[in-house]
Amino acid sequence: MPEMPADGTARTWWRDGVLYQIYPRSFMDTNADGVGDLPGITQRLDHLQWLGVDGIWLDPITVSPNADWGYDVADYCDVDPPLGTLADAEELIDQAARRGIRVILDLVPNHTSDQHPWFLDSRSSRDARYRDWYVWRDPKPDGSPPNNWVNAFDPSKPAWTFDDHTGQYFMNHFLPSQPDLNWWNPEVRDEFDRILQFWFDRGVAGFRIDVVHMLVKDRDLRDNPPAQPDDHWFVRLRGQQQIYNACQPGTHEVLRRWRAICEKYDPPRILIGETHVHEYELLASFYGNDDELNLAFNFLLIHAPFQAEPLRAIVEGTEAAMPEHSWPVYTLGNHDNTRFPTRWAGGDPAKARCALVLLMGLRGTPFLYYGDEIGMPDTPIPADRILDPVGIIFNGHYGRDPERTPMQWTSAAGGGFAPTGVEPWLPYGDAASYNVEAQRDDPTSFLSLTRDLIALRDDVDALRSGSYTTIATDDNVWAWHRGNGVVVACNLSDTATSVRGVTGTIRMSSDPDRAHEVVAGSLTLAPWEAVITAL
Ligand code: NOJ
Ligand code: CA
Repeated sequence: MPEMPADGTARTWWRDGVLYQIYPRSFMDTNADGVGDLPGITQRLDHLQWLGVDGIWLDPITVSPNADWGYDVADYCDVDPPLGTLADAEELIDQAARRGIRVILDLVPNHTSDQHPWFLDSRSSRDARYRDWYVWRDPKPDGSPPNNWVNAFDPSKPAWTFDDHTGQYFMNHFLPSQPDLNWWNPEVRDEFDRILQFWFDRGVAGFRIDVVHMLVKDRDLRDNPPAQPDDHWFVRLRGQQQIYNACQPGTHEVLRRWRAICEKYDPPRILIGETHVHEYELLASFYGNDDELNLAFNFLLIHAPFQAEPLRAIVEGTEAAMPEHSWPVYTLGNHDNTRFPTRWAGGDPAKARCALVLLMGLRGTPFLYYGDEIGMPDTPIPADRILDPVGIIFNGHYGRDPERTPMQWTSAAGGGFAPTGVEPWLPYGDAASYNVEAQRDDPTSFLSLTRDLIALRDDVDALRSGSYTTIATDDNVWAWHRGNGVVVACNLSDTATSVRGVTGTIRMSSDPDRAHEVVAGSLTLAPWEAVITAL
């Protein structure tokens, strides 16, 4: 495998660095078919190196009929042809390593595509070789599904589909074309050990694991209890608590097995989980005894409003629940959530800048989603261009295409994503207002703010590794100490205010015009201003 460059310090790339998520179909198209590809990512590595990121996570690149855009896998050990070849993946890993950037892939172990050879065989007959690789059950006597579990995409539907051919239901928590694997089958576990090693042997630095909390289900398939009035709104939306189809001891067993595989490599590979849970203790449990996930995504932050009190409560709750050895990871968006300049900032650049400073000031690894660095908002999708299966289910009222549109490199037609005249797979956004080229040499741009914040984290040890302590403030301000001497203060309101007890120098403000003034006792904050000071 390619040499991982050593930076000569005791830093750990995934704890001390900044990571960046790429949606491969939308980053850069090199062969003018309107679909981003792996050679395109390789071509844009210089941008990422210039930005200062330490690792990239690619949404699935493996073979897929694309019913759910890569999250329906038909072959775990090859590259989806529109994205490139295995050789392209190796070239990307190699070129990234030369720039000090690690490559993390997406692993989708909860389900496969219904076109995967395992499922084609499994559904062929009740005694097929792969029958037990998936979850098959008889209907209840009245013909209804085996239990009350609901579908994750559409909670009005069961997590089961009836198969006429063999007269049983199979389990699918997502699309019917994404049947759930049976993680009680030891052959499934062995197979995934091999898949992990296949990619690790090729220099892949780790995996982001799709719906990791749902991997192993209750063996007896017991019914879930209904949601309660004080449950998180996401749980209420689902209508039931995931007591039996999520967070099972068996999942932790699988994670310990995978972590042991990771630790056999030099440097050790890492596991990042899509831990879509809404209780701090559950989130913390995925770190195990430092023998499960290295990083467990915190969705509470993404699902919160852009207000001081709820955000502070989430970080305090997380800090209190996390075991000593664990390390948080935060992001403001991803391919399943509307972009933060839209969701949190409503198009107001001051709010979006404030949000970015907030993220970069937290204790934990920050993950950027491609386009975040230029403050890229959602792109409205006309009804006839909806491609996300969830967008189709909800008829455009809700869907994930708006946050998946092509990266905006330049203001030219095609946004630098594909040659002019090429129709991109999803529509272009407002590349004239938000693009890398226009922002690159402007010290007041969003891109400069992102790059400067990454550099500041690199420079100020306490901003990377210092502890988190809340500072008492007015209601609409959220401020905290990072270790000794660093203060992050965010005014999440329309009114100017100040934070008492701050001493140091302003190292960064979301306001590009704010000078690096000395603060002696009281830090003033303009509306929606976020500031980082250091001694
Ligand atoms: C979570 C992924 O992030 C999402 O995009 C996908 O649709 C579901 N899991 C199913 O794999
Ligand atoms: Ca292409």
